[in-house]
Amino acid sequence: MAIIRSVIRGVGGYLPRRVMTNADLARLVDTSDEWIVERTGIHQRHIAEDDELTSDLGIAASRQALVRSGIDPVDIDLIVCATATPDRTFPATAVRIQAGLGITKGAAFDVQAVCSGFIYGLAIADNFIKAGQSKRALVVGAETFSRILDWKDRGTCVLFGDGAGALVLKAEDGERGILATKLHADGRHGDMLYVDGGPSTTGTVGKLRMKGREVFRHAVVNLADVLTEVLAEAGLDSAEVDWVVPHQANSRILDATARKLGLDPAKVVVTVDKHANTSAASIPLALDIAVRDGRIKPGQHVMMAGVGGGFTWGSVLARLT
Ligand code: ACO
Repeated sequence: MAIIRSVIRGVGGYLPRRVMTNADLARLVDTSDEWIVERTGIHQRHIAEDDELTSDLGIAASRQALVRSGIDPVDIDLIVCATATPDRTFPATAVRIQAGLGITKGAAFDVQAVCSGFIYGLAIADNFIKAGQSKRALVVGAETFSRILDWKDRGTCVLFGDGAGALVLKAEDGERGILATKLHADGRHGDMLYVDGGPSTTGTVGKLRMKGREVFRHAVVNLADVLTEVLAEAGLDSAEVDWVVPHQANSRILDATARKLGLDPAKVVVTVDKHANTSAASIPLALDIAVRDGRIKPGQHVMMAGVGGGFTWGSVLARLT
């Protein structure tokens, strides 16, 4: 019997033109390039212009992914946008992306799982495809975190950046495509990383608040666990994995996770140095870069994993086309 899988047909990414270096940040808050690089591995981040919205970033990344996929946008029947920084409280940013791409059919909605959002979106789209409800899906991670940062809080404003990434999935039978997905959430930790606003609490957008040390500890444990789980689910050994594309929060989190799993750090795609943490956009942006520079090749096994506020965490294992 043929197995219908979600095959990755195209990847795209977009970063705003404006670059903010650590030296630029040191003019805003009491920090230094040395501190930021040593604690996080971040050298710079991209920041959206005032008139550049999350949907604009998402549309630019989606256009690239669609062109590379060879799929006509009008044939897309599902758009899932992972974002914690939507253009508006509603309508969903996915719907604005849909309109921007000239698509008028199919389903479009947002997913809110913060930094794990792209993994959640990918798993949802994969399930739609496996259930036969979608044939061609667009999964987008797009964020303008610069809008929800407290630019006076040096403990958080140095960590994040803006950007978007997108991926086109197509229902096909065969050995390639998404092989396994795993999702988790534990809402007991909601006060470790949150935004202190919202329509139902304050009626304002609010700013990001974080207990950095606790988030760090949970991130390493959860990333390592969920990567182990998705490997088991796919029936693969870690030696069979060619690349790990994790959420890009902090290079120390990535190093510690690779060590815990006994993974070769050379197999881990790292973009946090240039992009900082772009939340739901970080995984597709990193995937786009490693596919475009030729590191990730057709037929290779790629593990993606994310952890984020909530806490939420999850992973996807795919064989690329
Ligand atoms: N520049 C200079 N000094 C700073 C800065 C800064 N930007 N930020 C904090 N400090 C100071 C603190 O005030 C503190 O000073 P004190 O000792 O005089 O009180 C000192 O540095 C140490 O602060 P800590 O918060 O204990 O530093 P830590 O080593 O834990 O590093 C960091 C902080 C980088 C935030 C780390 O905890 C971390 O990376 N946590 C993970 C958080 C994360 O990645 N979140 C992203 C969102 S969730 C996700 O994507 C997984």
